[in-house]
Amino acid sequence: QQNLSIVGGNYTLSDGTNPNSLLTYSCLEGYYPFPTQMRQCQRSGRWYPPLKKSKPAECLMVTCPDPLVFEYGSVSPIQMMYYVNNETTYKCFDGYKFVGSKTRVCQLNGKWSGNTPICDQSSAVCPDPGIPAGSRRTGRHFDIDDKVAYRCDNGLILIGSAERVCQESGEWTGIEPACYYKHTYDTPQEVAKAFSKAISSDLDLAVLDESSKIRLEQGGNLHIYIAIDKSDSVEEENFINSKNAMKKLIEKISFFEVTPKYELLFFATKVKEVVKITDPGNENVDIIQELDNYKYSGPEDNSGTNIAQAFHTILERMSIVKERQKATFKDVRHVIILFSDGIANMGGSADDNVAKIKYLVESVRGKDWEDYLDIYTFGVGPEINEDALNSIASKKPDERHFYKLKDIKSLEQTFDEMIGKLYGIYLFFLCQREGKESTCIGSLVNTRFVLTAAHCFTLDDTEKLHRIIVEIHNPPAYKVKSVRPHKNYNNQAKKDLGIPEFYDYDVALIELEKDVTFSANIRPICIPCTKEASHALGLPDTATCKDQGEVHISCIYIIAYEEDDTGPLFCRDNCIEDALETIKIEDRGKVKAKDIVTDNFLCTGGIDGPQGQTDDISCKGESGGALFVQKKRRLIQVGIISWGVKNLCQVDNPKSDEKSRDFHINLFRVTDFLKERLGKTGETYAPLTFIK
Ligand SMILES: *[C@@H]1O[C@H](CO)[C@@H](O)[C@H](O)[C@H]1NC(C)=O
Ligand SMILES: *[C@@H]1O[C@H](CO)[C@@H](O)[C@H](O)[C@H]1NC(C)=O
Repeated sequence: QQNLSIVGGNYTLSDGTNPNSLLTYSCLEGYYPFPTQMRQCQRSGRWYPPLKKSKPAECLMVTCPDPLVFEYGSVSPIQMMYYVNNETTYKCFDGYKFVGSKTRVCQLNGKWSGNTPICDQSSAVCPDPGIPAGSRRTGRHFDIDDKVAYRCDNGLILIGSAERVCQESGEWTGIEPACYYKHTYDTPQEVAKAFSKAISSDLDLAVLDESSKIRLEQGGNLHIYIAIDKSDSVEEENFINSKNAMKKLIEKISFFEVTPKYELLFFATKVKEVVKITDPGNENVDIIQELDNYKYSGPEDNSGTNIAQAFHTILERMSIVKERQKATFKDVRHVIILFSDGIANMGGSADDNVAKIKYLVESVRGKDWEDYLDIYTFGVGPEINEDALNSIASKKPDERHFYKLKDIKSLEQTFDEMIGKLYGIYLFFLCQREGKESTCIGSLVNTRFVLTAAHCFTLDDTEKLHRIIVEIHNPPAYKVKSVRPHKNYNNQAKKDLGIPEFYDYDVALIELEKDVTFSANIRPICIPCTKEASHALGLPDTATCKDQGEVHISCIYIIAYEEDDTGPLFCRDNCIEDALETIKIEDRGKVKAKDIVTDNFLCTGGIDGPQGQTDDISCKGESGGALFVQKKRRLIQVGIISWGVKNLCQVDNPKSDEKSRDFHINLFRVTDFLKERLGKTGETYAPLTFIK
């Protein structure tokens, strides 16, 4: 009998030693099965990949790619190999500017935390694009049309762009490459974050298209093609799980105010179109229902993997739609999402058909065709052909299109995590007064009130204000009934001290004339010290305001916009000290940081997180916006964006620097003000229930 065991781990067999049975290895956390995670029993009675008598499978420690490729600086410590929890720190030589993470930790999924560290002194058009861990770069010139090329060390697979070109805009084409081992995975949290960001921009654009004056036929302008590989589904359970994951994804997309047309197909040896984009009334089809109706057909039908055929079908459908829609086809945005292990055993590579699809879009769009086509690929499962899936995926700056997940459960978890991120929580509003316009942001806290910053208004605005339009997503605009700033807000209060502008109690509530109707993407944000927030936090009804603070923002000094970076990232005193930067030099002796930044403020910014994180920064025009943390499916607002030390927002995708700090009114400290209005009973709107 063959030795199926693995040194340091366990194995399972899906169907004993019968043909098609899967031998799956498992190792403890921080280890991975080598040389393979899975074997399949062939009809011949052998396993594939074959077992080696001399060398049984073993569990090896997870490693991260070589970080020593860092240029113009030093890495410490220097090791042959870097294992989980090993930490590295990076320093630049004098005269070089540090970009990225100063400290990185090797994580359980085989990736370094944070971002690629770079020492830049380039005065060229494009910034130094860096050398990601495990890679080598050729090309050292960063001016327009200069190219850099990357390859990964042996045993690593390049994900992202192998070549990048410096563009006139100062941006590199494509996306930063990363080097993955076979044992490297993306976590569901990472994927949820990156995929939400990318797909939301597709969906937001489609929403804008739909609301523009020239309205296309309904559902005319966003076409979503979903292709699911069922060849792995030798077990019915896997098939059901992947259907469940798809349902979650489609549900998330349905939260957007856009009616896409869908094509939904499963493929193995053959392609089965469950929903055809060319069917009349496609946009009204209940996709979830159709998915439910589509049943498992047994393992025989699922033996081959024909990815080329799947893309061929998509290409055919697109061509038919093009013929039918004629002139309006050029305004259609196409999103293709592929779920597969990428291991095609028939039909050849999909690259040709993918190229034809690109050409089709380019032929109607011209130069900006890439904005109209997004191809996402999800590699799911123990054995993945990363190269094939990476090659199919779109490559766009700052957007990821290829993801690698450990198993189908992680895929479901990914789409679960996406909840909340796709909700449009921000409300933009525009103050128009005597020809002048200023914009601020606010957040909806119940059907009638918008929470924002007091400095968005001048004190006599309440009377003089001609009109404030609260634009929620699209029109309708809501008329404003009244604006109520905090009574202690006084911008000029400390002028004598040498503080030109003072933002303590920078909070205001806007009452709308009529109720806002909630929908999937217009929902109120939770505010602290309410029953609603206790529920969102999973606290009992007896919880106090203090409990909420402790669970949640005990010692929060910095809260980034996204949930994974919460926590006390550095000492508050440090953070507020930088507020003095806004004071004239001759006044600096007189003024203390605490005079400017009272205890009512939260502070974010800088670059001194424990892993070199930088916070998202606030920009002009984001005043009044919500600083929030995310708990499960709800967002809880903890602050109002008030003011900042620096304006770094002239560039796209601005990053915090060492001295850039933003200050936010801490909502826990203005609950009396909130309660007075929002907790009032006997009004025509439902009050919030405030707790002690
Ligand atoms: C293997 O199985 C045993 C018994 O179920 C368990 O105690 C052990 O932790 C497992 N080891 C690994 C590496 O999964
Ligand atoms: C790196 O990780 C390995 C494995 O956990 C450990 O034995 C080693 O001490 C770590 N090295 C450092 C410098 O922390």
